[in-house]
Amino acid sequence: MIVLGIETSCDDTSLALYSEARGVIAQLTASQLAHDAFGGVVPELASREHMRALVPVYEALLAQSGVGADAIGGVGAANRPGLIGSLLVGVSFAKSLAYARGVPVVGVHHIEAHILSNELGGETLQYPCVVLVVSGGHTALFHVREQGGYRLVGSTRDDAAGEAFDKIAKLLGLGFPGGPAIQKAAESGDPRAVDFPRAMRERGNPDFSFSGLKTAVRLHVESRGTLDARAIHDVAASAQAAIVEVLIEKTVACARAQRVRHVYLAGGVAANGPLRAGLKEACAARGIAYHAPLLEYCTDNGAMIAHTAHVHLSRGRDDGLDLDVRAREPLGPWGE
Ligand code: KG4
Ligand code: ZN
Repeated sequence: MIVLGIETSCDDTSLALYSEARGVIAQLTASQLAHDAFGGVVPELASREHMRALVPVYEALLAQSGVGADAIGGVGAANRPGLIGSLLVGVSFAKSLAYARGVPVVGVHHIEAHILSNELGGETLQYPCVVLVVSGGHTALFHVREQGGYRLVGSTRDDAAGEAFDKIAKLLGLGFPGGPAIQKAAESGDPRAVDFPRAMRERGNPDFSFSGLKTAVRLHVESRGTLDARAIHDVAASAQAAIVEVLIEKTVACARAQRVRHVYLAGGVAANGPLRAGLKEACAARGIAYHAPLLEYCTDNGAMIAHTAHVHLSRGRDDGLDLDVRAREPLGPWGE
């Protein structure tokens, strides 16, 4: 079965076609530039941009892949959590298409899709495992005992890791999204230049907090007045080290506490080079197998939605035309 996946939960309109036999057949993403002037995503603008982009992206995807509309056997759309207006655009389109073509439609939990993006390289997830989900909206550790058995073990008390990258990049004038900009600036900086705080480090605490780090960076920048390029690179490297160290330490501690032999990364921040390299090394030192999604499937993408929808459609699920959207919802067993 060829499945169309639709991701519109934030500021990317990303559509993909997936089948079990062929994997990701094609993917097309329109990223929104309309938010650049505001230094963050403006929800109302995001919904309008999705409405503008959706049909052209869908048509271009079919043309590029050579797959006819009548070959689509099911549709999946991210329906929770996310910006409510943005989700609504993708879900309405998915339901219309499913109705018109007489095929099933399922709503996909965005976080489950990030977790299962680890399978887009061709390997299935190995259980039991611990997954660190790090994105612009989420920082969470899941213990997954078997397929679909998601159990939240720890999460952030305030900012998400990606949000911390974005806000610190803004303070340093490095642009948006902040993660890739900080990573790049950090390459020529000294990670030991500034000793930024690492919060909630006590043993056995699986939760995270990044708002104190953001404040510490702001106070540091304010106390220095203007920073030259070298100082900016040093602050970027030091802040990145503070975030990455805590993520690695807590993920490894969680894997040990849950006695699992497999650790997975997921979400936009999983694209971060030092996080990937550092977690890989920390896992190897403890005999834990480390896994991460291919770089192109870390940030929001239609392929992860199409693949996760395929998993649910294959189990016979059809949410029908009652499918609705939700701005917030914890990830429960089977993404339900
Ligand atoms: O998963 P995602 O695309 O959207 C959400 O579901 O939130 O994640 C976006 C986040 C942004 O905060 C962005 O700055 C961060 O992922 N990000 C990175 C990198 N690439 C993207 N953070 C650190 N290093 C990167 N290379
Ligand atoms: Zn995401």
